[in-house]
Formats: sequence, structure tokens, C-alpha cells
Amino acid sequence: MLSMGAALLLVTGSVTAGKASSEDASRVRQLMQQQAGMMTPELQAKVKDLSPDTKRLLMQILSSHDRYSDRVTLRQVMHEVLSDYQSMVAGVMTDNPEQAADSAIRIANHRIPVGGLLPYLGIENINDERLAVLESFNDSVEGNARKLAAVAGKGDMTAASRLVGDIAAGCVGCHAVFRGQPGVSAYLKK
Ligand code: HEC
Repeated sequence: MLSMGAALLLVTGSVTAGKASSEDASRVRQLMQQQAGMMTPELQAKVKDLSPDTKRLLMQILSSHDRYSDRVTLRQVMHEVLSDYQSMVAGVMTDNPEQAADSAIRIANHRIPVGGLLPYLGIENINDERLAVLESFNDSVEGNARKLAAVAGKGDMTAASRLVGDIAAGCVGCHAVFRGQPGVSAYLKK
């Protein structure tokens, strides 16, 4: 077990989860402490240097999720998100409000991988400048997925179909910053 000092890295007294209730804020604070305790010293040092604003943003993102895994990786979560995305589109295309809305909500409340998001984003991206862009990708994907759930739930598939593209743009935008081409081999000459 890591010391409490290490576990408390992420959480400074003044950082709260924005509009969340104080009960919610303490739940999120506890989660972030757990996640920090799982990180290597190298990542812990990067996280420690993040500004209160960035930490607040990370807490906000966590507080909008209530599914946490203690074993699956971000890559596995992403494959599940892709399945939910495809199911959401199928619901829109077949005029099925229940499938579209439920799948969109599953995207918005996707599982958080073991250790949180930060361990998977690349150590070179763990700084205030790079992490600031998470907010807009989060809004594009999760914000628009919630909007899609609302309009699809009312049976308005025309409005829902317009939001599909906004969600896809959020996926692709985030990949352009935080992910390279999947599956590149080290055994091909450059
Ligand atoms: C917060 C940024 C972010 C957003 C938003 C995001 N992704 Fe990802 N995605 C990643 C990262 C980072 C990886 C690489 C994870 C790894 O390999 O450890 C990834 C990987 C993936 C993979 C796996 C590729 C492989 O290597 O097997 C799929 C599939 C995927 N994302 C689908 C989606 C879909 C669909 C959406 C939108 C509904 C989405 N992602 C939104 C950051 C994001």
C-alpha cells in the first residue's frame, strides 16, 4: 500500500467537484485518492503538478459516472463504447427510441477503467495544457449522447440523427490528441 501522502496527491483542500453535492464530492475525492494510490511514482509526480483547475475538471468528469471497473483497461472500455455507439445508431435507424436512448446513456455513463483515465493517456499528455482539451471532447461525446437520449426518447429520430455526427466528431477528436493508430507494429521498417 502507498502512503496516505501519495494517495492524497490528487486532492487538495480547495478542489471540489463543481456543482456536485458535498456527498458526491466526497465520493469522488475518495475515488481519486484510490486511483492515485494505484499509479506509479512517475505518473504520481505528473499528477501532483496539475493545477487545481485541471484537478477540478477531472473530478467533474468522474462525478458524472457511476460505473467503475477494478480490472478493465481503457482500451476495453472503448470497445464497449463502440458497441454502444453502434447500438445507438441501430436504434436511430430502426426508429427504436428505447434502444437509441438506453445505448446513448450507456455511452454517457461509460465505465471508468482500472486506475482512472490518466494512466492510459500517455505520460507526455499529463499536463494542464493537454488535459484542458478533455472538457470539449467530453461535452461532444457525453453531453451530446445525453441530448440524443432525450430527443430519441421522445421519438424524434431526425433530431437524434443530427447528434450522431457531433458525437462521432468527439470520438475522433479525442483520438487525434490522445491516441495513435491502433495496432502499429514495431516489426515493420519505418
Ligand atoms: C477522452 C478521449 C476519448 C474519447 C472522447 C473517446 N476515445 Fe476512444 N480512445 C481513447 C484513447 C486514449 C484510446 C487508446 C487506449 C489505449 O490503447 O490504451 C482509445 C481507443 C479506442 C478504441 C480502441 C482501439 C484499439 O486500440 O483497439 C476504440 C474502438 C475507441 N477508442 C472508440 C471510441 C468511440 C466509439 C468513441 C466515441 C463514442 C471514443 N472512442 C471516444 C480516447 C478517447
